[in-house]
Amino acid sequence: MTVDTAADAVIASAPDPRVPRHVAIIMDGNGRWAKQRGLPRTAGHREGVKSVRAVVEESRRRGVTTLTLFAFSSENWCRPRAEVTILMELFMATLRSEVRRLNENGVALRIIGERGAFSEKLQRRIAEAEALTAANTQLNLQVAANYGGRWDIVQAARRLAVAVQSGQLNPNQIDEQRLSTELSFPDLPEPDLLIRTGGEQRLSNFVLWQAAYSELYFSDVLWPDFDALAYGAALDDYAHRQRRFGRTGEQLEQTCAAGAHPHGR
Ligand code: IPE
Ligand code: IPE
Ligand code: MG
Repeated sequence: MTVDTAADAVIASAPDPRVPRHVAIIMDGNGRWAKQRGLPRTAGHREGVKSVRAVVEESRRRGVTTLTLFAFSSENWCRPRAEVTILMELFMATLRSEVRRLNENGVALRIIGERGAFSEKLQRRIAEAEALTAANTQLNLQVAANYGGRWDIVQAARRLAVAVQSGQLNPNQIDEQRLSTELSFPDLPEPDLLIRTGGEQRLSNFVLWQAAYSELYFSDVLWPDFDALAYGAALDDYAHRQRRFGRTGEQLEQTCAAGAHPHGR
């Protein structure tokens, strides 16, 4: 694209409101994918890593700047012990095999969730991967592991309580803005688009607070089959949505005409 005038330069650098800045994905359907093929559930989890690569790559290509992937929920500890063990091993192995490539591609990796429950070794590996990639700017990739939306709100409430107890914070100062600064990713925009694959239409305790105004997209495609094309279809669907944030469609048309970005924060 050629930029002719200063005004064109501003337009060229402004984020395109049709592209979600932050996409959050509930990667569901690995077990069913495997079952359909007469394979153990864990084969579906292994295959799912390919879809992770595909959505990371497509996110960078389409200009999504933050991607949050739900890999293991607070509730997934209830699964058979052997499956939990294999999921942890896969997490560890994937960190080992993918971090270099992510780093080369300018991806900043962050793990959100209660990491104290992981083995010391896994916690160390997570910290190393985060430190290595921290300065990267192409894509913020958050992997939600041992994450629960309720846990996130509870840990934020606890931190506020500690601040009140120590006299640093007055309870009257606690509002939505203040509470959200204690959540897992206060420095990043809230998810604009939340995708769930695998056919179920529920949040399963994912980003409860932060998804208050996310656009929802449910796909019947099982996660291991969710490729760049299927992801692209979700992004294209988002591009046609009108996000009203409580306002009327007419009000939005006016603000858009005045050049305001229709997104929230
Ligand atoms: C999602 O796939 C992966 C995790 C929850 C770790 P599932 O394992 O839930 O697959 P289904 O829903 O049983 O098909
Ligand atoms: C949600 O999937 C968690 C992840 C994708 C990591 P589940 O398969 O665990 O969700 P439910 O239990 O069927 O709602
Ligand atoms: Mg599932």
